Amino acid sequence: MSDKKATLAIEGENAIDLPIYSGTIGPDVVDVGALTSQGMFTYDPGFVSTAACESKITYIDGGNGILLHAGYPIDQLAEQSDFLETCWLLWYGELPTKDEKESFLKVITYHTMIHDQMTSFFKGFRRDAHPMAILCGVVGALSAFYHDSLDITNEKHRSISAIRLIAKMPTLAAMAYKYSIGEPFVYPRNDLDYTENFLYMMFSNPCEPYEVNPVLAKAMDKIFLLHADHEQNASTSTVRLAGSTGANPFACISAGIAALWGPSHGGANEAVLNMLNEIGDVSRIDEFVARAKDKNDPFRLMGFGHRVYKNFDPRAKVMKKTADAVLKELGVDDPLLAIAQRLEQIALEDEYFIEKKLYPNVDFYSGIILKAIGIPTSMFTVIFALGRTPGWIAHWHEMISHSHKIGRPRQLYTGPVQRDFVPVEKR
Ligand code: CMC
Repeated sequence: MSDKKATLAIEGENAIDLPIYSGTIGPDVVDVGALTSQGMFTYDPGFVSTAACESKITYIDGGNGILLHAGYPIDQLAEQSDFLETCWLLWYGELPTKDEKESFLKVITYHTMIHDQMTSFFKGFRRDAHPMAILCGVVGALSAFYHDSLDITNEKHRSISAIRLIAKMPTLAAMAYKYSIGEPFVYPRNDLDYTENFLYMMFSNPCEPYEVNPVLAKAMDKIFLLHADHEQNASTSTVRLAGSTGANPFACISAGIAALWGPSHGGANEAVLNMLNEIGDVSRIDEFVARAKDKNDPFRLMGFGHRVYKNFDPRAKVMKKTADAVLKELGVDDPLLAIAQRLEQIALEDEYFIEKKLYPNVDFYSGIILKAIGIPTSMFTVIFALGRTPGWIAHWHEMISHSHKIGRPRQLYTGPVQRDFVPVEKR
């Protein structure tokens, strides 16, 4: 907070002072709350210039390609930390001590099983249901199973709900996949770590043993970690908005999953792979780049551009390195990778993309890794949801732990003015 002020005069009159607040880093914000008393609202479609809350969790400097969680750069976390440690960091704002980490890993492990009754929910879906449709439903349904932890004013309830969500998400995600391919559900194993367990529940079956490849488990863990939080993105803002009404955390995260599903957000990783398949050959890249630049064509290059990053997405850099490691380990020579690499090169040299600062984002390379691991395209956004869960729940917790208002934007109304109702026979 500071003594700085902005002065706003409406048509040169009735000047009002608007306080300016400073964060620890990043742009100052102008508190426009006093505008309402002047009978005016701000207008900012897409919240391009609006800070909707104060937060200590994540900082992004989009111009310089910087992403920090509680101050720690994402590349350092990706190299030296792991997903569950990052979950702790997002929730508590500090790295865990050795003992804290050990007990957190244990508590997560011992909450990975789901109530057996939950399996009935899956059976209600068509086999060809999109796993994101299933995930929205089953995560929301968790609120029907944990009445013992739904008091959002109780810190302990909030914390056990967070643990349940983080722990059960891989089990639910793997079940959605198993259901779609008609294989039996696989229960979690407490001797495996978080990511190994996910791969085990996805790919093992009762007929033969399954060994988790440590290189793939490490890559998967990195994918989860790189998605863990991204400050006030569309799905996190959805979770906050739903949570601001006092809704329970399972319902709020389900709302976040729904918001994530769209191709402009988490659905982009699936869309990238579909796009690379559609391009099909390096020789057709120019045609697709031309379409992306054509104002009359709605086509966009999926995996490019970001609302906040106007420089390389730092997550994409780590993702690219991880893709190389996975493809090397598996000895995969994926023609889609050649298309992706050439597309990236062409786009980075193209005036249109340079001028609009459209760089590859986190979703550009994640699909290549997931495909190499054997994850079907329809599961890509589910994996994003799994990774983003600690971010969603940390933001929800941060908001609920402090005084907050119900989220309730205003509007610029451009519909008809008041008029009298006309009975049907006179219309
Ligand atoms: N391909 C071609 N043109 C693009 C693209 C793209 N991928 N992205 C933006 N543009 C153009 C857009 O047409 C517009 O041009 P103009 O100024 O001439 O009208 C300009 O760049 C600005 O675009 P915008 O839509 O106003 O920007 P935004 O900040 O509202 O949208 C975005 C950001 C991510 C939705 C958009 O870049 C996009 O649709 N990208 C493709 C989808 C994608 O990869 N999404 C994943 C985002 S990262 C993961 C996540 O956080 O969810």
